Amino acid sequence: MDLFSLAGKTALVTGGTRGIGLMIARGLLEAGAAKVVVSSRKAEACEKAAAELSAFGNVEAIPADVSTEAECLRLAAEFGDGPLHVLVNNAGATWGAPLAEFPASAWDKVVDLNLKAPFFLTRALLPNLRAAAVEGDPARVINIGSIDGIMTPGERYSYTTSKAGVHQLTRVLAKELGPQQITVNAVAPGPFESKMMAATLDAFGEVIADTVPLKRIGRPDDMAGVAVFLASRAGAYVNGAVIPVDGGLTTL
Ligand SMILES: NC(=O)c1ccc[n+]([C@@H]2O[C@H](COP(=O)([O-])OP(=O)(O)OC[C@H]3O[C@@H](n4cnc5c(N)ncnc54)[C@H](OP(=O)(O)O)[C@@H]3O)[C@@H](O)[C@H]2O)c1
Repeated sequence: MDLFSLAGKTALVTGGTRGIGLMIARGLLEAGAAKVVVSSRKAEACEKAAAELSAFGNVEAIPADVSTEAECLRLAAEFGDGPLHVLVNNAGATWGAPLAEFPASAWDKVVDLNLKAPFFLTRALLPNLRAAAVEGDPARVINIGSIDGIMTPGERYSYTTSKAGVHQLTRVLAKELGPQQITVNAVAPGPFESKMMAATLDAFGEVIADTVPLKRIGRPDDMAGVAVFLASRAGAYVNGAVIPVDGGLTTL
């Protein structure tokens, strides 16, 4: 089990207050992380998640809107000077509208959060990641992409392209930061229960589950498992990978 232990490691999870981020934060704590910092825009949501997660370990909450570089810099400053072993760039948003009506504002909102935030926050936290980086057990950046960045869904124009961008950014940063003993990988989730997916799963949950080769949607441990693997010594030699966690949906 030592191979998958996160003992002594500190992690920061953006959007860690609900959905996939909360699944990951809990998983990292259950694998023994010394501290997990969760962040999202709403202070109240941060406090609620921190209270819920404290049953599993040491949690801190720092509210921040990571869709601007200024807030990424403030979040990094509030995190402080300590080492950061695992950064999970998870906060994300989506937008759907027909081609003819798709608003410019939905490009800015989605790209600012999904694609620019992982870049600016990772850059802002590089001193902390470098401080945690050890040969054989590098610091880790885990970007949450999407199978929508691999497949071609309709009407979510800014979302699908932002996620394809996240996957490419992951590979570019993996190449650049690898020599500094910092790995950068992406997880491309399939369907998981969350606020973002609530309306879709309410309307089409059974059809979606039936379409997935494993005949179900994702469960919290499916997301926790891949995050723990990528964050632990078990994933130390994985760099620049985009890992679909989708029950096989991208094979269709
Ligand atoms: N659920 C799925 O099936 C699925 C599939 C593929 C990929 N994903 C990806 O997984 C990630 C998490 O999605 P989710 O489904 O868990 O969505 P969610 O339930 O809507 O959670 C989004 C999280 O991000 C935070 N957030 C939103 N805007 C933010 C901002 N500007 N700055 C900081 N935090 C912000 C939210 O909290 P606040 O409202 O307090 O800010 C919340 O904690 C996203 O990147 C999404 O694209 C999800």
